[in-house]
Amino acid sequence: MNSFGFMRLIGSLSFIWLVLAITTAAQPSSSPAPVLDSAGSPLEAGVEYYINPAITDNGGRFTLIDRNGSCPYYVGQENVSGLEGYPVIFTPFVEGETVIRESRDLKVVFSASTTCVQSTAWKLGERDAESGRRLIMTGESQSQQRPTSNYFKIVKAQVGENIYNIEWCPTEVCPTCRFICGTAGALVENGKRLLALDGSVLPVMFERRA
Ligand SMILES: *[C@@H]1O[C@H](CO)[C@@H](O)[C@H](O)[C@H]1NC(C)=O
Ligand SMILES: *[C@@H]1O[C@H](CO)[C@@H](O)[C@H](O)[C@H]1NC(C)=O
Repeated sequence: MNSFGFMRLIGSLSFIWLVLAITTAAQPSSSPAPVLDSAGSPLEAGVEYYINPAITDNGGRFTLIDRNGSCPYYVGQENVSGLEGYPVIFTPFVEGETVIRESRDLKVVFSASTTCVQSTAWKLGERDAESGRRLIMTGESQSQQRPTSNYFKIVKAQVGENIYNIEWCPTEVCPTCRFICGTAGALVENGKRLLALDGSVLPVMFERRA
């Protein structure tokens, strides 16, 4: 090979290298988009966030609800906006992940202590007899291996910026399970705003605790 041929070889090799580098960089990463808070910053694991309804006149911040004077507490909302509520902490199912991403399984735990001995982790509860909707309560799943009832997903709402829906559909915790998935909304019972699947949907925003 003369020196011209050699240079051409180096030239095409570096061209191939360049193409490879560009395609690698341009490829969409396998990780879904981060969930953004109301200020547009990615949600982080282990940080406290308040959950607010995205639309006004839909109740207030997410909080713990004493449904009927006995433990455990249920997940619900303050009656009106402007009240404190309790912040939550998100923990991704995928270990070592520090960013909260769309449509990934995660645990949601209220950063609060209650008089109930149960944990303040969100848990899919029983079906409300009257409405037929599945309520979201607090407590730990009975299953150590497949704690599917404790895992939720945050999915982008169809409209609006930094607005999301909360779903129960723990396909990462159990890829072989068949779930009746559902999206969370408000269910008003005796004047208390409870969070429930299988009905109206409540779009939400996440506000990092100052
Ligand atoms: C409260 O609700 C739970 C769940 O529906 C039920 O098991 C319990 O008996 C109720 N307690 C009272 C005091 O009504
Ligand atoms: C909302 O109002 C109802 C009815 O007055 C009350 O029972 C309930 O505790 C209130 N909810 C909160 C979170 O304070």
